[in-house]
Amino acid sequence: MIMTGRSLVTIDDLSTGEMEALFSLADEMSGTMEKQFGLCQGKIMASLFFEPSTRTRLSFETAMHRLGGGVITAADVGATSLAKGESIADMARVVGSYVDIIVIRHPWEGAARVVADYSGVPVINAGDGGHQHPTQTLCDLYTIKKEKKTIRGLKIGLWGDLKYGRTIHSLIFALAKFGANIFFYPTPGLEVPEHVLEKLTTEYGGELESHSSLEAKTGERVLPLDAIYLTPDSPHQLAMMPDVNFQVELKRGVDALYVTRPQKERFSRTEKGHDWRKDYPVVDKKLLSGREFRQTLVMHPLPRVDELARDLDADPRSMYFKQAARGVPVRMALISLLLGIKEVAVPAVDTHPPVQYPLYRGEVAPRCPNPRCVSVQDTETRYLQPEFKIVNREPLTLRCVYCEHGFEPAYIASAEWHEGRTATKKYHSARSHWVHKISPENLIVFSSAHEAETHGFKPSHYVKTKRRKEKHDGSSKRGEGIKE
Ligand code: NCD
Repeated sequence: MIMTGRSLVTIDDLSTGEMEALFSLADEMSGTMEKQFGLCQGKIMASLFFEPSTRTRLSFETAMHRLGGGVITAADVGATSLAKGESIADMARVVGSYVDIIVIRHPWEGAARVVADYSGVPVINAGDGGHQHPTQTLCDLYTIKKEKKTIRGLKIGLWGDLKYGRTIHSLIFALAKFGANIFFYPTPGLEVPEHVLEKLTTEYGGELESHSSLEAKTGERVLPLDAIYLTPDSPHQLAMMPDVNFQVELKRGVDALYVTRPQKERFSRTEKGHDWRKDYPVVDKKLLSGREFRQTLVMHPLPRVDELARDLDADPRSMYFKQAARGVPVRMALISLLLGIKEVAVPAVDTHPPVQYPLYRGEVAPRCPNPRCVSVQDTETRYLQPEFKIVNREPLTLRCVYCEHGFEPAYIASAEWHEGRTATKKYHSARSHWVHKISPENLIVFSSAHEAETHGFKPSHYVKTKRRKEKHDGSSKRGEGIKE
C-alpha cells in the first residue's frame, strides 16, 4: 500500500488494515532503529505546537531525527505570525512551501483539517483542542495489541475526563473499529459528549447500555460505571447476551483501564471553580487489587497529575511509560508511510469503511455551535466556509466537518421551489415531512424563525398555525386572549 501524500487528521483516516500494517512496520523499525537512519534524508518536518507538549512533540522530532530527516519547530503561538492575526490557512500555505510534512497541535478544534486543506503536504494532527489525537491512539492500540495480541473482543475501561480528553475521543472510535467493548468510567460531570456517542452508535453500530439500566441489572456499582458500548463485531459473549452477563462481566474486570487527567485547560468557568479531587477517584494498587484485575493493563497517555498513583509505576500491569516510549517507532512508521518512503501490504479487512454523508452546501451557512471550532474564530471566518455533513434526517442533524460537533436546525426550506417565485419562498419545521422531500443539494437550514425571515422566507401554513397555537396556549395560561 502506498500512503504517499495522505494526512492523518482523525482516526477515521486510517482503516483497521492500514493501522495493522503500520504496527508491523513499527515493530520492524523498533528492532532495527539504527538501520532506519537515512531513510528520510533530505526531507524536512515542521513541528508546530501551539499548545504545551512533551511526549508528542519530542517523540515526533526524535522519530524524524532517527529517520535522518530535518526538523523545524514553532512551539508558541506568540512567536509566530498567528499572534499578528494571520490565518491558519496562510500559515499552512507558507509552511507547506518549506517542508515535506507538517505535524500540528492547536487548541482550536478542526485546526489540523484546515492545515491539511491548505498546506499541500501531508499533515499529522498532534491534538486539536478536545477533538482528537490520532497518533496517541496509534500508540495506545499498538500497546494493547502487543500485550494482548488482539484488540477484538477485549473489554477496555476509559476512566476520568471523558468529556474533554481528545485521546479518549479518538480511542473510542478506534476501539469500536477494532471490535472492542468499551466501559465508560467518567468523573461525574465529565461524561463522553453526546456528539461522540451519536457518531459511535450510528457509524459503528453496536449497543450503548447506559448507567441507569446497568445499575438496575447489577444492583451494585463495582467501579463508577456510566455506560457500556457493546461492539456488534465482537464474538465476545457479552455482545450476544447483554441481559444475562453484566454482573458476571463487571466482576471479571477489564482487559485494560485507560486513565486520563482532568483537562483543566478546556474546562468552562464553572468547571474550573469546581473541586474535582473528591469526584476524581484515584487509580491505585488498592483499587486494582482484586483477582479480576490481575491481567488488567493500566494505561495513561500522560502527563498524569493525581489520578494515577505512583505505587503502580513498578507494577508489571503498568503500561504508561511503554506507551510513551513506543511513540517513537509508531511515529517513525507513520512519517515514512505518509512521505511514501515505505510501502506496506495491507490486510484487505476493513469492517468499517467510512460512512459517506451528503454535504450541506445551502445558501445560508449555519455557524458551528462549538465555540472552540476553528470555523468560528475571527481570523478564520474571513475565508472558511462552514461545512456540514447531513448525518441524520430524523431529527435533521448536521455535523461540522471541522470539529465534528452536531446540531439540529429548527427550520428548513428548499432552494428549488422558491426560485423566481417569492410566493413559494416558505420555511418549514425541520421535524415536518418536508425534511424527506428536499434533496441535500436544495436544502437550506435555519437556526431560528428570525433567521429564516431575515433571508426573505415566510412561515409555512403549518409553522404559522403551530406558532399561533403556542401563543394561544401561552397567553391563555396567563388569562389573556389573542387578537388576530
Ligand atoms: C495528551 C494530550 O495532549 O491530549 N497527552 C499526550 O499527548 N500524550 C493527554 C493529556 O494532555 O492529558
